[in-house]
Amino acid sequence: MATLLTWLGHAAFSLDVAGVHVLVDPFLADNPMAASKPDSLPADFILVSHGHADHVGDTLAIAKRTGATVISNAEIAGWFSKKGVKTHAQHLGGGHKHAFGYLKLTLALHGSGLPDGSYGGNPAGFLLTLPQGKRIYLACDTGLFGDMALIGDEGIEVAALPIGDNFTMGPDDALRAVKLIRPAHVIPIHYNTWGLIAQDPDAWAARVKAETKSIPHVLKPGESLTI
Ligand code: NI
Ligand code: MN
Repeated sequence: MATLLTWLGHAAFSLDVAGVHVLVDPFLADNPMAASKPDSLPADFILVSHGHADHVGDTLAIAKRTGATVISNAEIAGWFSKKGVKTHAQHLGGGHKHAFGYLKLTLALHGSGLPDGSYGGNPAGFLLTLPQGKRIYLACDTGLFGDMALIGDEGIEVAALPIGDNFTMGPDDALRAVKLIRPAHVIPIHYNTWGLIAQDPDAWAARVKAETKSIPHVLKPGESLTI
């Protein structure tokens, strides 16, 4: 069964895995790039990579409306649990089989303070093995790190990598990341939301095409890949 991976702008994604609806870092209401409003999206699970406001986003409102389970590191899961939503805590390196596939939290080099100043543990990326066996790696907010090669060793069908620079990898390091991860397909994210992270994704995609075997997909917010 095909999985639909839709970029919602910034670092937000939705996945439809055989009718199970998964949102990732749903920063929508305050996101000038967002393709969707938080009051209209279906959700069974919401993945939160780290505590920053542009990733926690509308998680609480969507979880309250839909009854979705929030999956994050133990510190962020605990923070949401106190607010009365269902949670599932994992931690870096740990995987769990959910209804949408086997989800492992990966290393990410970043911060994770929550919007109210609470401690948000360590930031994460997401490595998802779909029920059909293909793997998606959402790097989320991170700098370049050499162990991306270990993630690549698992065999990645689609990777989503930040290219915005300033807060995360910029285009040069994201290109190096593609070479370490060796995904079949790659999507640039976390750029052009604000002037501070303005980038030319088409220029980056041209470099990916010229220097790697990966196929770049410059999506507009709301556009999807079928996996
Ligand atoms: Ni961040
Ligand atoms: Mn961010």
